[in-house]
Amino acid sequence: MFKTQVSALQLEIGFGGGEHLLHRATVAPQIGFIGVEPFVNGMAKMMTALGKTPLANLKVYDDDATRLLDWLPSASLDGIDLLYPDPWPKKKHWKRRFVGPANLARFARVLKAGGRFRFASDIDSYVNWTLLACRHRGDFEWQARDAADWHRPYAGWPGTRYEAKAIREGRRPAYLTFIRQ
Ligand SMILES: C[S@@+](CC[C@H](N)C(=O)[O-])C[C@H]1O[C@@H](n2cnc3c(N)ncnc32)[C@H](O)[C@@H]1O
Repeated sequence: MFKTQVSALQLEIGFGGGEHLLHRATVAPQIGFIGVEPFVNGMAKMMTALGKTPLANLKVYDDDATRLLDWLPSASLDGIDLLYPDPWPKKKHWKRRFVGPANLARFARVLKAGGRFRFASDIDSYVNWTLLACRHRGDFEWQARDAADWHRPYAGWPGTRYEAKAIREGRRPAYLTFIRQ
């Protein structure tokens, strides 16, 4: 699948401008990354970056991530990153959020036991929604070491474009990590 041998497989859903995905694929050449982004401007930006600096450990897909999730074999991924997904802040639109029973079931199928699901958001209602949805399933264990943990960026975190905007506008990001049981 990749032009190089990889020891693990990570998926990033909705990579936007691709800043985070490019950073991670660059610093971890031994890991295979798949990035999904249906928005044409984001994908064009990514293709321009890869044209200048090709990465043998990165593949991209330009459609709805649910299609890729349904295509992937069971227990094939070591990690899924969902970083600042479209927030749908109005209550009447919450059902459109990417996190929901159907997509969590997809995540549970494709993640290996011990695999990691990371969710970052600046929208408190979406953070609570995700915590509740994962707790409801029972097979995603939230990794929080202390009360401040969920406001601490992930190790080696380069940030994302959407996050920078959220911080500029005064919203505080949360960084959740769940382990597939
Ligand atoms: C708010 S933006 C965040 C982008 C980037 N992660 C960041 O933090 O800058 C959400 C992104 O998710 C993408 N997206 C929305 N629905 C998606 C889906 N079903 N599959 C894959 N990506 C999706 C959008 O096109 C958009 O680029």
